Amino acid sequence: MILVTGATGSTGKHLVSQLQARGAAFKALVRDKAKGEALGVDFAIGDFDDPASLSAAMEGVDRVFLASPGAQTEAPDGEQPMIRWERNVIDAAKAAGVRYVVKLSVWNARIGGRMSEGAHGVVEAYLKDSGLAWSMLQPGGFMQNFLSPASSLADEDGNLIGPEADAPVAFIDCHDIAAAAAALLTGDAGRNESFVLTGPESVRYSEIAAKLTAGWGRPVGFSGQSERAIADRLRGYGLAPQQADEMASLYASLGEGMFSEVSDAVERLTGAAPRSFDAFMAANPDAFPALATAGR
Ligand SMILES: NC(=O)c1ccc[n+]([C@@H]2O[C@H](COP(=O)([O-])OP(=O)(O)OC[C@H]3O[C@@H](n4cnc5c(N)ncnc54)[C@H](OP(=O)(O)O)[C@@H]3O)[C@@H](O)[C@H]2O)c1
Repeated sequence: MILVTGATGSTGKHLVSQLQARGAAFKALVRDKAKGEALGVDFAIGDFDDPASLSAAMEGVDRVFLASPGAQTEAPDGEQPMIRWERNVIDAAKAAGVRYVVKLSVWNARIGGRMSEGAHGVVEAYLKDSGLAWSMLQPGGFMQNFLSPASSLADEDGNLIGPEADAPVAFIDCHDIAAAAAALLTGDAGRNESFVLTGPESVRYSEIAAKLTAGWGRPVGFSGQSERAIADRLRGYGLAPQQADEMASLYASLGEGMFSEVSDAVERLTGAAPRSFDAFMAANPDAFPALATAGR
């Protein structure tokens, strides 16, 4: 029996439907009954901050998908809460006799890294030391970050803000992260291995702006900005200085091509090529309504 944490999240919801389609034995961890009923699958109610609820959810479970929210920009001081939440799940899993954890991490996770890179680095080390079998899924940026104008960074004119240097980035659709997780959780491969997960191509922010123009049916320009300008903007939005600087530094790394290289891990694990950015948009017609109009 598999326990899917973060089951209502960007990757978890795809994993729930893919495990359901496979007929796999699993239950979803949700924070309340209404969320479980909305998923329409077996569920356990639990909270990452309530270890007793996690222990109860582990009953009969031998494999766990571990996903929690990313770095919190409003919690600048001290440890990111993600570290506490994921340690709690790993501790409950170990105490319950779980054998295997597939962890949703991030590309370039490392202790001392920026934002979620550092927090995931700490949790990866904790999981590796736990004695449980593990697999680390290390995606780069999610295509889902562009699902709505509100989920991406934009300037006052609605132009997409990206790094000045505008190197291509190997964004991935969370649908394909879930497919990789489903293959691992229902098979025997990939124990104690880390997988950098990307889409099939690298795309520049300027190219994404053109795609969003077609998808949203309004002009979306590209505004390439320096690391300093992005940090200042984020501080203006209320992020703490360290958070703003670390996030701006991540943007700069994207522009320098640090996340350009395409990996074949999704296809190796699942047997199917991951979705391109165009395929991601086509799979989300509600978010990109102008594509249907254009296709008529
Ligand atoms: N965004 C990116 O580009 C990117 C790239 C690489 C890696 N990542 C990583 O991907 C992971 C997922 O990030 P995301 O922002 O997309 O989050 P998400 O998966 O959309 O949401 C997090 C999930 O955790 C659940 N959750 C939140 N607090 C909880 C609690 N106290 N107890 C139990 N469940 C709780 C949420 O449930 P509710 O429905 O109840 O809120 C939701 O299902 C993060 O670790 C992030 O670092 C993100």
